[in-house]
Amino acid sequence: MKTRELGNLQVPALGFGAMVLSPGVYGEIDDVRAETALKAAMDAGATHVDTSDAYGPDGHNERLVGRAIKGRRDEVVVATKFGLAIPAGEDSRSFPVGYEFGELRVNGEPRMVRGYAERSLRNLDTDVIDLYYAHYPDPGVPIEETVGAMAELVGAGLVRHLGLSNVTAEQLRSAHAVHPIAAVQNEWSMWRPVDPDLLAAARELGVGIVAWSPLGNGFLTGTVRSLGAGDFRHHAPRFSAENLARNNDRYAPIRDLATALGITPAQLALAWLLHQDEHVTAIPGSRTPAHIEENLAAADITLHPDTLSRIDDTLTRFQALGGTLL
Ligand SMILES: NC(=O)c1ccc[n+]([C@@H]2O[C@H](COP(=O)([O-])OP(=O)(O)OC[C@H]3O[C@@H](n4cnc5c(N)ncnc54)[C@H](OP(=O)(O)O)[C@@H]3O)[C@@H](O)[C@H]2O)c1
Repeated sequence: MKTRELGNLQVPALGFGAMVLSPGVYGEIDDVRAETALKAAMDAGATHVDTSDAYGPDGHNERLVGRAIKGRRDEVVVATKFGLAIPAGEDSRSFPVGYEFGELRVNGEPRMVRGYAERSLRNLDTDVIDLYYAHYPDPGVPIEETVGAMAELVGAGLVRHLGLSNVTAEQLRSAHAVHPIAAVQNEWSMWRPVDPDLLAAARELGVGIVAWSPLGNGFLTGTVRSLGAGDFRHHAPRFSAENLARNNDRYAPIRDLATALGITPAQLALAWLLHQDEHVTAIPGSRTPAHIEENLAAADITLHPDTLSRIDDTLTRFQALGGTLL
């Protein structure tokens, strides 16, 4: 697969978001299916694997990744994140989110950071994390302090590159002044524009952007008509029964455009993202090998400038109903 640069870190144009592989995210899933999907993704070239200590119970997602990369560690860029307090402890700060549960909690205190990394290394069964992100900025801790502790991990050889997730341009600039940041991971997709100030700052500083939920939690594939049990999207206003139906109606022109181009809506959503900037990469998630193959083929799709303008026009009119996480 073609590659992209995130700072000094080279990754495939499309990676793999492993969150989908833990139970309670998109419904139930067993570890056999999860490992099969992850191996299919890596075999097909999605060797940038994104996880977090917060995905699944008790480090479940990291441990799954750790098992899947056994024997092929050198082929894989392992990215993980720290700081979300799940279950919420008193020793954490709350920040508001647009999902039904209203808030998440985070602890980015410097004294915690080494312990987080050591736990993730154990879960991943590896001796180094390639890309280590602060999952959300802690509203009670200056980001420079969190990043200062992360920089010590690089010095100790436990981490190769630093990343930040869910940050503003200002937070990126402050952090980058402490230690070079390779990547920012924020939500970005056809139904969630990136903050233009953040994009400008990333370009100026040579920081790559990793687009999370690049398929809009599956919505942009055009295949989500209802949700099953145990699916976290029940908390997401855009997926309420009423909003989902109306959003699907509004999104029809993009689905039609994909059909006219002879590609799938998922491929159009991913190819469109890769055309936004040469330093953007996306980490779609899937439990289904056929979907994974379909998605990764998007790295080879070239969209004509006229097509890109038409998509931008259409997206300007497509106003999704319902709030986003952040
Ligand atoms: N930093 C953060 O705060 C943050 C937050 C959220 C997510 N993330 C990262 O972003 C990654 C991806 O996000 P995500 O899982 O929320 O959403 P996503 O990749 O936008 O969408 C995943 C959903 O799309 C479906 N799907 C994928 N390809 C498909 C295809 N070709 N046709 C039909 N359905 C398809 C999957 O179902 P199937 O399994 O049936 O294919 C799954 O339900 C996560 O794994 C995580 O690494 C980061």
